Amino acid sequence: MINTQAVFGHKCPHFPGIGTGGRVQMPSSCMSKIDQNARQMRIVPWGAAEAVAQILLGHVQAHLSAKTVTLECLDKQQAKMRIQVEQKGGGYTWVNPGTTVRPYLLLVAEALFLSANPELKERWEALIKVACPDAAPLSARRLDQLSHETAFKEALYPVLDTLYTSGKVFGGSRSEIEADLPDPGGYPHTPIFRGGKKQAAQTHDTSEEGRLIRRASQGVRALLCGPTGTGKTELGKRVALKLGAKLVSIKGRPGLEDRDMIGFISPTPQGPQWVDGPLARAWRLAQQGERTVLLVDELLRLDPYHRNVLIGGLDDVSAQELHLMLGVDVPEGRYYTLELPGNGEVLYASTALLSVICTTNVGSSYTQSGEIDPALLRRFQRVMFVSYPAEQDIMPVYERVMGASAARAAYALEVKTRTMTTQHGQLLERPMNIGVTLNYLAEAKDLVALGLSEAEALEEALGVTVVPFCCSLEEGEPDIAAVKALEITLQDVLKAFKVA
Ligand SMILES: Nc1ncnc2c1ncn2[C@@H]1O[C@H](COP(=O)(O)OP(=O)(O)O)[C@@H](O)[C@H]1O
Ligand SMILES: [Mg+2]
Repeated sequence: MINTQAVFGHKCPHFPGIGTGGRVQMPSSCMSKIDQNARQMRIVPWGAAEAVAQILLGHVQAHLSAKTVTLECLDKQQAKMRIQVEQKGGGYTWVNPGTTVRPYLLLVAEALFLSANPELKERWEALIKVACPDAAPLSARRLDQLSHETAFKEALYPVLDTLYTSGKVFGGSRSEIEADLPDPGGYPHTPIFRGGKKQAAQTHDTSEEGRLIRRASQGVRALLCGPTGTGKTELGKRVALKLGAKLVSIKGRPGLEDRDMIGFISPTPQGPQWVDGPLARAWRLAQQGERTVLLVDELLRLDPYHRNVLIGGLDDVSAQELHLMLGVDVPEGRYYTLELPGNGEVLYASTALLSVICTTNVGSSYTQSGEIDPALLRRFQRVMFVSYPAEQDIMPVYERVMGASAARAAYALEVKTRTMTTQHGQLLERPMNIGVTLNYLAEAKDLVALGLSEAEALEEALGVTVVPFCCSLEEGEPDIAAVKALEITLQDVLKAFKVA
């Protein structure tokens, strides 16, 4: 049962341009036609406003199957929970509908997915046109901005009035039950809330990459280990891209200064001012409600001092502890804190919004080698070993540069170099990797454009791309024996793949 008193009494922090609670009048032009006898006076139903905000912020996920819509949303304590509406005969059954916010989520779902409420659907679509032109969820900051804009308010009020009126007119006739709802196995229909299309089926992606992305959608601290050039950095960026998260990167190198890492105080005509470095930027974005991925590339090349700053930041505290520390009121959950040196400000980021992905070149023996200190290792929830990509994954990338036979020959050469290193008692300093092979193919392609045959181009390009990377230098010259070994191997693969 909808509790009208609770609906109007709700505190809703998302639309400061309109208000955060209490009696806020809406124009009578927004009046729903569902209840002809309603009074003209319209005031903001804050519980319904909260439901709209949660959807726009991307906190509500949808799964549609036949006549049932399952939603994942947040309860009062900001914990995830599932609710559902099922169309049965002429009526609807609500599962776990609550009394204040969740009934309005269900009304939106009925309208968009089960065609229950044409007025709401039409008004919702008009709102989405203003609020989410690209069908992406809004950041908290963007929603705050929008709430000050007339066009947004003019689209929001009609939705709120229809929601409130629908709740009053239809809410009482819904069957309501409480039940533990099973996981529907992904929420591909979520974008439909914001005028988008159903997501391509990637929810069953059980690859390591798919699992990392899913973990990161709830915040993760992950370490990617593996040899150079296996695509660790690229993977970190891809996670951010696929999540639609903001990406902040730090590249570890000796001699990195505070200003390159945390931030610095800059003298300005108005006096000294703090300028965020990448670490502060990542924290601040998450504090503002943005899903954020902090990519710390080459973690072990950070000097110990900066690594410790990062470790300190990855200790999380509860909302209560944060309140005691900083006097701020934040939703339940865990938070990373970051104190800005010299400025005293303490930033806090929800662990659900800030993912930290670090990469390092050490191999799988890192634990024995003691290279990563245990205090740091303990901070990671996932350690993923990234090895060379599978042939079917990387070949299309190579084939975009040169034709199939040249690309396959280059890949075959790359694979062979993995066992031609000094580690294997052979002559090469290091094996080829994706980046080297891509350079090699790009150089060969240029030479083909100049009139060389593919085979000639691959022979010629070897010396300026593969040799300098794979062969050790002796008095400024690449080791002749190693170069010879590469050249012979190249001849073998050119023959094998019939490159002429
Ligand atoms: N899936 C991929 N598709 C295209 N290029 C890739 C892919 N993975 C990696 N690369 C390229 O290969 C090179 C090495 O990848 P990188 O992520 O830097 O490796 P790592 O961080 O493991 O050393 C880069 O030039 C990168 O752009
Ligand atoms: Mg890298």
